[in-house]
Amino acid sequence: MKSIRLERVSKSYDGELILDNLNLEIPTGQFFALLGPSGCGKTTILRLLAGLEHVDSGKIYLGDQDITNVPIHKRKINTVFQQYALFPHLSVFENVAYSLRIKRMSDDLIKAKVSELLKMVRLSGFESKMPRSLSGGQQQRVALARALISEPEVLLLDEPLAALDLKLKEEMLLELSQLQDKLKMTFVYVTHDQFEALTVSERMAIMNVQGDIEQLGTPKAIYEFPVSRFVANFVGNTNFIEGKLQISSGKYSVEVDGLGLFSVYTPVEKLWMIPGCRLYVSVRPEKIFISKSPKEGFSNHMAGKVIDIIYYGRSTQYRVKLRNGLYVLVFEQNEEHFPQENIDYDDEVHLYFQKENVVLLEH
Ligand SMILES: Nc1ncnc2c1ncn2[C@@H]1O[C@H](COP(=O)(O)OP(=O)(O)OP(=O)(O)O)[C@@H](O)[C@H]1O
Ligand SMILES: [Mg+2]
Repeated sequence: MKSIRLERVSKSYDGELILDNLNLEIPTGQFFALLGPSGCGKTTILRLLAGLEHVDSGKIYLGDQDITNVPIHKRKINTVFQQYALFPHLSVFENVAYSLRIKRMSDDLIKAKVSELLKMVRLSGFESKMPRSLSGGQQQRVALARALISEPEVLLLDEPLAALDLKLKEEMLLELSQLQDKLKMTFVYVTHDQFEALTVSERMAIMNVQGDIEQLGTPKAIYEFPVSRFVANFVGNTNFIEGKLQISSGKYSVEVDGLGLFSVYTPVEKLWMIPGCRLYVSVRPEKIFISKSPKEGFSNHMAGKVIDIIYYGRSTQYRVKLRNGLYVLVFEQNEEHFPQENIDYDDEVHLYFQKENVVLLEH
């Protein structure tokens, strides 16, 4: 199968290196998300793929074809940007029809294609409306139809939902994912919002501030097995507990100042995991069980005092100050079959977690 590859791509603006020897492979026919903090170079990558910018060095391939120097209109790659960027003086129909008009396609064919695309983005009947009379979500759907009408092989989406409110964003995410499923086209979706990337993508890449890819994988693999502190913290919430690694007869444990010894488990041994090394244990807040009374059956125990409670409806978040001064976040699901204990501020609580639910991260 064809993939999009950036090989040792470097790009600088005004003498400042933004991408430094970047290697990235994006599988085709999938919903791929590129997630990273603001300013790390995500838009720059899309602009290079689209042909709006040129690399300083390195190569870009679409399948076997080297497209590094292929001009923008000859790449079968289209983009939907964060700003709607519709032509304000053209109707919805003419906005979508634009690229076909340039190709001088017949009126009948244009009408048929535009109708098909507007139906796909659920805007049938909006043909004669002007962009300014549409909502943000509707404008983005027009932009989507316009980008898809020339039948690109790859659709680049640069934070296309950033301007929408949460409810609409969730709806549009679902629609985008259904659309991709139907078209089986490569979607490269750029965002700095981990929620969007996790919900919508089949595979994702996490970029750090320096513009390097830290991890690439399925959302589940990245969430459950982050490879670095940066990834663990950027994708979801987590608790970092610093300690010293001990290994005895194949069993791992971590000694934490003021908290004693934790049993930990790691499915893969890493080179840096040598006895005595300092490291971080990462435990997701939803993997910690909170209770006012002692419980059995857990590998690890901590104790502390509740200093903050936030009720989120579906879940409750507790901030607990441990006896060694460390703060720990705990998420508790508010479910019917989970009898709630009415935990309150200042309550002394026990926190438990299993060794399988920790990730060991390099210091
Ligand atoms: N045309 C340009 N001229 C000069 N510097 C630029 C240009 N475009 C981007 N930059 C710089 O390159 C860096 C990366 O920018 P880029 O737009 O790729 O980031 P991003 O990851 O898309 O961020 P965001 O999430 O905020 O959109 C930033 O420091 C930015 O200021
Ligand atoms: Mg950007």
